[in-house]
Amino acid sequence: NSIQDTVIIGKKVIYLPSCHSTNDIAAELVRGGMFSEGTVVITDEQTKGRGQRGSVWLSPPGENLTFSLIITPEQVLIAEQFVISQAVALGVSSYLKARGLDAKIKWPNDIYIGQKKVCGTLIENSIQGNSIVSSVIGIGVNINQRNFGDMRITSIGQCLDRQLSLKEEFGELVRHLDRVYVRLRSGDFDSIRSEYLSHLFGYREKRYFRLQAGIVEGTLTGITAMGRLCLLVDGETEIREMDIKEIEWIW
Ligand code: BTN
Repeated sequence: NSIQDTVIIGKKVIYLPSCHSTNDIAAELVRGGMFSEGTVVITDEQTKGRGQRGSVWLSPPGENLTFSLIITPEQVLIAEQFVISQAVALGVSSYLKARGLDAKIKWPNDIYIGQKKVCGTLIENSIQGNSIVSSVIGIGVNINQRNFGDMRITSIGQCLDRQLSLKEEFGELVRHLDRVYVRLRSGDFDSIRSEYLSHLFGYREKRYFRLQAGIVEGTLTGITAMGRLCLLVDGETEIREMDIKEIEWIW
């Protein structure tokens, strides 16, 4: 099984009707050394889908896309690893744009349509020396789900008010991911970084954030190569670099 018209991603697709987590299956393939770059593991149902910050990723069987892909980027240093997240977020947003939807990336790499989350990603890197040798990129995109029990979540089908073919959406999304990955592979990091900023939710806007010390009003002014968020706070006098464990958005 493979996706047509791609250079790297989706040349091999492993379909499992059900599994615990596609990220875990992909990580097992990496550990065993039994994979080719661009292999995608996709399932209809995850029994132990994982989200960011140790959360659970729930997705009703057969309604959405849940898959993971394996890349071996070679030239990405640990110190610049966030470019992988940026490329993935851009791949998903350009796919949504092709569907007529204006997507924004909510730092670090959630994808939003308006004020609602439509896609989450879980990226797990393997390191050797000072570089990333392989990366498992887990993607969960809401496609046909309509009931969420949470007003802050949506699906593409809900936004477009129609039922979509999971197979077609998968093929199209993988083609967009492949295109941006080819750019990353060629070392085009600067343009990926600046394109990411241009799609960033809340960029250069005043917002409230929860820090360990309490709630602050701050302006998101940039993202470092490691993916730390630069926040201008305290009457625009201080820039703090924060990572995902130290800071939370407040709506
Ligand atoms: C998040 O927003 O919290 C990240 C969600 C990532 C979910 C995807 S679904 C496919 C892959 N397998 C997992 O267990 N998680 C990721």
